[in-house]
Amino acid sequence: MARVPSLRRRLLTILAVPLALAWIGSGALIYVLALHYANLNFDRSLVETARALERMAHSDAGSEALSPQVRILMESETDDPTWYSVRSLQHGVLAANRDLPLPATPPATGAAPRLESVTVDGQSLRMASLALHDAAADATIIISVAEGLRARRALAREILVGALPVVLLLIAIVLALVWVGVSRGLRLLDPLVEQLEQRRARDLAPLDQDKVPSEIRPLTQTIDALLQRLRTLLELQERFIADAAHQLRTPLAGLRLQAERALADPRPESVRAALAHVERLSAGAGRAAGQLLTLARTQAGEHPAFTRVDLAHLARDYVAERVPDALSQHIDLGYEGRHTGAVVQGDAVMLREALVNLVDNALNHAGEHGSVTVSVAQELRTVVVAVEDSGPGVAEQWWPRLGERFFRPPEAARVGSGLGLAIVLRIAERHGGTLGFAHGHNGRGLRAIVRLPAS
Ligand SMILES: Nc1ncnc2c1ncn2[C@@H]1O[C@H](COP(=O)(O)OP(=O)(O)OP(=O)(O)O)[C@@H](O)[C@H]1O
Ligand SMILES: [Mg+2]
Repeated sequence: MARVPSLRRRLLTILAVPLALAWIGSGALIYVLALHYANLNFDRSLVETARALERMAHSDAGSEALSPQVRILMESETDDPTWYSVRSLQHGVLAANRDLPLPATPPATGAAPRLESVTVDGQSLRMASLALHDAAADATIIISVAEGLRARRALAREILVGALPVVLLLIAIVLALVWVGVSRGLRLLDPLVEQLEQRRARDLAPLDQDKVPSEIRPLTQTIDALLQRLRTLLELQERFIADAAHQLRTPLAGLRLQAERALADPRPESVRAALAHVERLSAGAGRAAGQLLTLARTQAGEHPAFTRVDLAHLARDYVAERVPDALSQHIDLGYEGRHTGAVVQGDAVMLREALVNLVDNALNHAGEHGSVTVSVAQELRTVVVAVEDSGPGVAEQWWPRLGERFFRPPEAARVGSGLGLAIVLRIAERHGGTLGFAHGHNGRGLRAIVRLPAS
């Protein structure tokens, strides 16, 4: 089973490596600092020892050996023994418990002791040296005191061992604060949760973004966008239901009227007449229902899967299909333009539906012995599909309103459901195109023009 993602776990894993590195880094830093200060301290006492030796040496200057006092001072330390050497530059070593090297640069007589690091027999030592003048023997005496580094390192290590757990404790406190901080931080979301909880199902108003922490805004904005889409969808659905009810009420009332008429007058010819009405009305209702469904489909929220559609090919095929239909109405239906190659990105089923509606209109209005011409052309980056008929056309003032649902020019006969051009307009818009109108050939009839971006 997949683990539920957790902010806490995420944060802690993000922090784990840097904190571990910080722990190691601070350990190194503490050790370096501790060693530095240990060095300062030990160097100071080394200088003190050199000075003490200088004071005592003054009294025994020139003698072969140091006083027993000095010996005890120097040799009593067992942990990190202190080495010394007293040398006359003229007479050689006077006293020493180890063969210490001469300082790299001889110190000036009476100056402060000089400190340096030396290596003797492979052992690293710190050495303090000073020079004094022995007036009795007229000689320069160099006193050097040295000690190993073990004690300094031991001290630094001790400090390190004492400090590391403290740093570790601090890190643990940081992690605990992160743990608690996440819960406390997430409480900022409570108002949002409350806002959503208190909503009623149909309340799709945007969220109150003022109460939302800025980090969460992208999420709430996405939710808002979703709510907006739901609102549109719901409005469409409501409109569809209202439209459907409206569309069905009229033919249903008509059907009832015809049925009553037939029942009231059972003569065969009136029953026949009533049945003819019933047939016409139910066909109209059926068509209206079909048109409503098509309109609903073209308005559906999600984007249809577009493919390459060759409109020339599609239109030519469709015209061929409708020729018998046109012939039965004595209408000359023809196709003009290229045979293939006017390609758009689109939904072939929808585009065909648009063509069906335009050709239906044209055939309905062309009039007996009229003509209908479908043409497809490509103008630069636009594919133009036009359906023209030789009928009475539509007064120019109504063109802008053709495409509204249920709109019919006032003078028009009430034949269809009034949804065809609305469907065409929606389909054109979904394909990034437009629907326009013009007068037909010689100013007669209507020319409906769909422009679509070429692929
Ligand atoms: N080629 C045309 N010539 C004259 N009038 C037209 C033409 N096309 C459309 N109209 C007018 O525009 C109106 C709206 O057309 P539309 O296609 O939207 O609806 P409809 O044809 O009445 O119904 P439906 O197509 O849904 O069955 C029509 O009723 C008709 O009056
Ligand atoms: Mg129509």
